[in-house]
Amino acid sequence: MSMCLCVMGFFYLAEMELVRNLCNDVQVLKSIWFGKITGSSHKERLESFYGPQAHVYDHFRARFLHGRIGMLRACAREMHKLQGRKDLVWVDLGGGTGQNVETMASICDLSLFKKVYVVDICGPLCDVAREKVAKYGWTNVEVVEADVCDYEPEASPATLVTFSYSLSMIPPFLNALDKASRYLDPAVGILGVSDFFTSLKHDKTERQHGYLTRWFWRSIFDLDNIDLGPERRQYMDYKFETVYEENHLGYIPYVPILQVPYYIWLGVANGLQYVR
Ligand SMILES: C[S@@+](CC[C@H](N)C(=O)[O-])C[C@H]1O[C@@H](n2cnc3c(N)ncnc32)[C@H](O)[C@@H]1O
Repeated sequence: MSMCLCVMGFFYLAEMELVRNLCNDVQVLKSIWFGKITGSSHKERLESFYGPQAHVYDHFRARFLHGRIGMLRACAREMHKLQGRKDLVWVDLGGGTGQNVETMASICDLSLFKKVYVVDICGPLCDVAREKVAKYGWTNVEVVEADVCDYEPEASPATLVTFSYSLSMIPPFLNALDKASRYLDPAVGILGVSDFFTSLKHDKTERQHGYLTRWFWRSIFDLDNIDLGPERRQYMDYKFETVYEENHLGYIPYVPILQVPYYIWLGVANGLQYVR
């Protein structure tokens, strides 16, 4: 009898969890597909988009932002090579809810870093990140509400700078990359990026897309102010030296068949003799 009650209790709880997750996903999808983006500044537009979904953001994005874990693992491997050093600084630009820090903590010991900065312009997402810092008691993590195009970390130079799915949402991406390159350690610093993308008309073979793919995905993401144009990768290739690259396709939750192109990319300052 008690065994039977236990099993029923288990299924009841699992069902409740399923329903809760489904409700969260509906809220996110509503914001993505039907939400009205309002405001006259970049910050206002982002807050109108993310505000209503800030507390349910993580569950949906875990099945959508496929490149994050691979990018963080690749960055962690690079940071482990510098393990003896006590001055590692990680700056996560457009860090949102601080999910990357949570993921990194499951990959490596966060105390590897002297300081971690999660920088984001969107107030509601920064609030969620601050709640995580308090919940996990991360003493070396600071959440900074700022525009990455103006921001400079107090502890500098940065050993690791990451953009996960944020570069495509920063219109002045040249400023963002230039600014980051100024405080990235020129001797050992790693820049890690993962994002959705479309290729140039004539690109490297392994990341080449046809006309329809380029047109379709740019148009769809443009509706949410996300720019998947190839200029970002082109500038990264020009400004930095590539040390790692993956290009893949990933499914979108609740969307059958279609797969969106995404990449993982790691680079170092141009001219750095990458011998590690
Ligand atoms: C798709 S979300 C990705 C968030 C997080 N990196 C992740 O992987 O879950 C894009 C993020 O970029 C942030 N963002 C866009 N433009 C920004 C800017 N100029 N300065 C700081 N953050 C910005 C947004 O507020 C948002 O949190």
